[in-house]
Amino acid sequence: MSTACPVSRGAAEFDPFGDGYQQDPPAYVEWSRESEPVFYSPKLDYWVVTRYEDIKAIFRDNVTFSPSVALEKITPTSQAANDVLASYDYGMNRTLVNEDEPAHMERRRALMEPFSPEHLAHHEPMVRALVREYVDAFIDDGRADLVNQMFWEIPLTVALEFLGVPDDDKPKLREYSVAHTVNTWGRPEPEEQVAVAHAVGNFWQYAGGVLERMRERPEDHGWMQYGIRTQRELPEVVTDSYLHSMMMAGIVAAHETTANGIANAVKLLLENRAIWDQICAEPSLIPNAVEECLRHNGSQAAWRRITTAPTRIGGVAVPEGARILMVSSSGNHDPRRFEDPELVDVRRDDAADHLTFGYGAHQCLGKNLARMEMQIFLEELTGRLPHMRLAEQDFTYVPNTSFRGPEHLWVEWDPAANPERTQP
Ligand code: HEM
Repeated sequence: MSTACPVSRGAAEFDPFGDGYQQDPPAYVEWSRESEPVFYSPKLDYWVVTRYEDIKAIFRDNVTFSPSVALEKITPTSQAANDVLASYDYGMNRTLVNEDEPAHMERRRALMEPFSPEHLAHHEPMVRALVREYVDAFIDDGRADLVNQMFWEIPLTVALEFLGVPDDDKPKLREYSVAHTVNTWGRPEPEEQVAVAHAVGNFWQYAGGVLERMRERPEDHGWMQYGIRTQRELPEVVTDSYLHSMMMAGIVAAHETTANGIANAVKLLLENRAIWDQICAEPSLIPNAVEECLRHNGSQAAWRRITTAPTRIGGVAVPEGARILMVSSSGNHDPRRFEDPELVDVRRDDAADHLTFGYGAHQCLGKNLARMEMQIFLEELTGRLPHMRLAEQDFTYVPNTSFRGPEHLWVEWDPAANPERTQP
């Protein structure tokens, strides 16, 4: 019997909480895309998959590859942290993203109407007015942290509006949603775990309180109120546990993803100045530029599944009960699928085939709302601040496997050259 270690060096060292992965996940796993596209990570106790077609095949088969682990804590937490969560009656359970068939599809169908284009169109004037108002506040300053001054708050406001949640708790929600990300996809140290658990516990109770208030006015607009009304007809499909879990998870799903998505997009475009100038000159390129940014520098770096039977991924045998981390951001840079994948090409005709919204039965329900927000941000910024540039800075990220975007994005410009002053 061979005594050679079956785990390669790259696999042994793979650490999605380190700075290499945080700064550039596809570059960090380039070795894997090239030579070991499916590997077992002992540090994570996950199988990691990095090529486009393998990831797509997993997304396609949500029975062999169950999504039930999608919201599981990736770092098992200490007893002290678990006790804190229990003291808040924390009970995050199935929503949509982590629900198995057939329950998932029944629920998804029952709840999808508010995502239709006609319903989404209703939000567009509000998003544009918000973006204009926020840009007005800093356009004469010559310098801004776009994350703190706009990208974080506007998608939160839109998410709350879409869900039907009163938006008077925004600062608290920022703390809560980062805690949820760290709790679910991060690797907090034991002492941080307790603080995170308090924030997550408070988030859970807050979500329960909001839901109770919504139940008093179920006729109000909002996706959650729509769920409450649907529950009357389909109580087994839209359960109490679903509503409470979705009330909390939905805020993060609709908010952080989009806030990170636009921050990544603007960073990428300004780092590729010629492309930024191109879309400033030709705004009709913006919808495809959004897709290309989501492909090249998307806000979901990786997503999870668990096997329900022994199976094979790209020819590699994987046992039942194997936890899988699909590095979708790596699939988006797979040269077998995208020609010259490192190139930012806003005219690429297959950019929208990226995996950033997932694929198949669970593909992101909110993708068109996210796209609309990102397009409006780019239209307003390229129109009003075409001369802005990235300031000197180091980019930092909240260490976790999945939700990815810079914590700050400093830009600078000469206010005297603002088009609104030079061509009033
Ligand atoms: C599911 C990404 C914005 C609501 C997902 C999934 C991903 C994702 C990766 C899992 C897909 C799968 O398992 O195949 C993103 C990104 C966004 C974004 C990158 C922004 C750039 C939004 C918004 C909303 C939303 C704005 C709500 C308004 C949902 C829901 C699901 C989902 C409800 C579950 C769908 C299901 O399992 O049937 N999203 N999302 N997302 N997303 Fe998004």
